[in-house]
Amino acid sequence: MTIVPLDTFRAELERLRADAEAAMDAAADEVALEAARIDFLGAKSGRLKAIQKSLGGLAAADKPAGGRHFNEAKAAVTACFEAAQARVAGAGSECRLDAIDVTLPAEPVRLGHMHPITRTIRRVQEIMGRLGFESVDGPEVEDQWHNFEALAIPAEHPARDPLDNFYLAVARGADPLLLRSQTSTVQIRVMENREPPLRIVSLGRVYRPDTADATHYPMFHQVEGLLVEPGTTLAHLKSVLRMFASSFLGHAVNVRFRPSFFPFTEPSVEVDMEWGGRWVEMGGAGMIDPAVLEAVGYDPDSVTGFAFGLGVERIAARRYGVEDIRDFYRNDARFLRQF
Ligand code: DAH
Repeated sequence: MTIVPLDTFRAELERLRADAEAAMDAAADEVALEAARIDFLGAKSGRLKAIQKSLGGLAAADKPAGGRHFNEAKAAVTACFEAAQARVAGAGSECRLDAIDVTLPAEPVRLGHMHPITRTIRRVQEIMGRLGFESVDGPEVEDQWHNFEALAIPAEHPARDPLDNFYLAVARGADPLLLRSQTSTVQIRVMENREPPLRIVSLGRVYRPDTADATHYPMFHQVEGLLVEPGTTLAHLKSVLRMFASSFLGHAVNVRFRPSFFPFTEPSVEVDMEWGGRWVEMGGAGMIDPAVLEAVGYDPDSVTGFAFGLGVERIAARRYGVEDIRDFYRNDARFLRQF
């Protein structure tokens, strides 16, 4: 084995040290610095490791000095690496401090909330739930049977006029489907599938081709109520409506019935409600017509019940003091934020 002269060994160490310091000083980020670390200080194939191995080639008398030089060089390269590491980490955090001005006031988090119509629907469901009425849903695309026929609205009835309904091009059997024009459809769907006693409410969208104005919109919401129990009378209906309205509005409400006509109730009434000295028409109601009971397969001689249908927008408008129901659907955040 050839003997390596001590001077040669030292010269190599010096060159390595200079190279290492240059590389580590030049490293601009953590990735570059890590590459330099592996290159010089790497435990397996780093350049220092290679020189360490060549220590064994020195003459026995040179070995102590060689080892000392090696340790000095290794300590110097390690110190240089640590300095570079601190520099690179510091540069990173300086960068982040630049991007975020931590002295600026924080942006307030803006919490959203439920739309006033949704809120009204939930509240109605909750109050009616306390009176024992289960909340159910029905489809918005309906057939002639559920929207009209079973509700005793015959083919020639003006309510079925194409100009007063959104008929679809799609048909089920011979009949065109339509966007439901009333939630009374759900009365039929529930009675067809269940036996009395029943107490249900159904709240949802209905559609009519009305020109939008302060009190009309081509899509609006109704609350449908249905109670089927032995011995039901109009007095029960009035009590339920009065209890509902008083709970909803937070003070005593008067309910007034005016004689009216609906094909699916007999007798039929218009429902007016009064509080704060003002009467407002809220919808229609009545005792379920025997023809409807028959259509759903009930025995009209032994079954009694009432039904009612109120406008959700009307209830909400009165509750929140809204004058124009179009405001509910303009999606103007300044309006919606008030509730
Ligand atoms: N469906 C009726 C309408 O849209 C409202 C209505 C009237 C519903 C009387 C009822 C009722 O349940 O009994 O005009």
